[in-house]
Amino acid sequence: MALPFAVLISGRGSNMLALEQATRDGRIDGRIALVVSDRAGAAGLASARGLGLPAAVIELRGMDRAAHGRLVSDAVEKSGAGFIALAGYMRILDAAFVRRWQGRLLNIHPSLLPLYRGLHTHRRVLESGDRQHGCTVHFVVEELDAGPAVIQGRLAVRPGEAESALSARVQRLEHIIYPQAVGWFADGRLEYKDGAALFDGRPRPPAIVEETG
Ligand code: GRF
Repeated sequence: MALPFAVLISGRGSNMLALEQATRDGRIDGRIALVVSDRAGAAGLASARGLGLPAAVIELRGMDRAAHGRLVSDAVEKSGAGFIALAGYMRILDAAFVRRWQGRLLNIHPSLLPLYRGLHTHRRVLESGDRQHGCTVHFVVEELDAGPAVIQGRLAVRPGEAESALSARVQRLEHIIYPQAVGWFADGRLEYKDGAALFDGRPRPPAIVEETG
């Protein structure tokens, strides 16, 4: 049966749109039951509504993180979703939220984790002179950007490349690997157990997708 899932966003929502497209063309056996944004002005929210997806704004508004997390969890559960994809969600999740959704919570991060946890990854990669960069889908654990990786998109940094150009190339990879990972989860091929990502019941290193073209 198609997996109902929620997507949490704060901004543009291009990954949310890539996931939605993949539910439509059969790469994900699932459906987006709810889009949650913590920002009323998020462009992704308007896109979601334009597509007729159920969408909710749950702003922080002076609440503590745990109270906000409970509101988000409750809204997701009410929607019938049993799985959450974080897609550019800019709030750090509280421990209770992570525990409640452990094993049913994926995130996409714009670096080759464990390299460059946190923000401004493209800039930091360029400043370090790294030759490779990319993005990672991982299960979420309490420690930020530290959960087991499921799949990575990888590319070669071009000499003299601008941050904006690098970021756009990484995003194109994000739009490939995130639907792939959620598709695996929906098919029951991917699970989280004791801190590890299991694929077909066995631990394995993250799958790698190289940039083409
Ligand atoms: C992506 O680069 C993702 O890796 C990061 O936030 C960005 C979200 O972009 N977590 P979008 O809102 O999906 O366009």
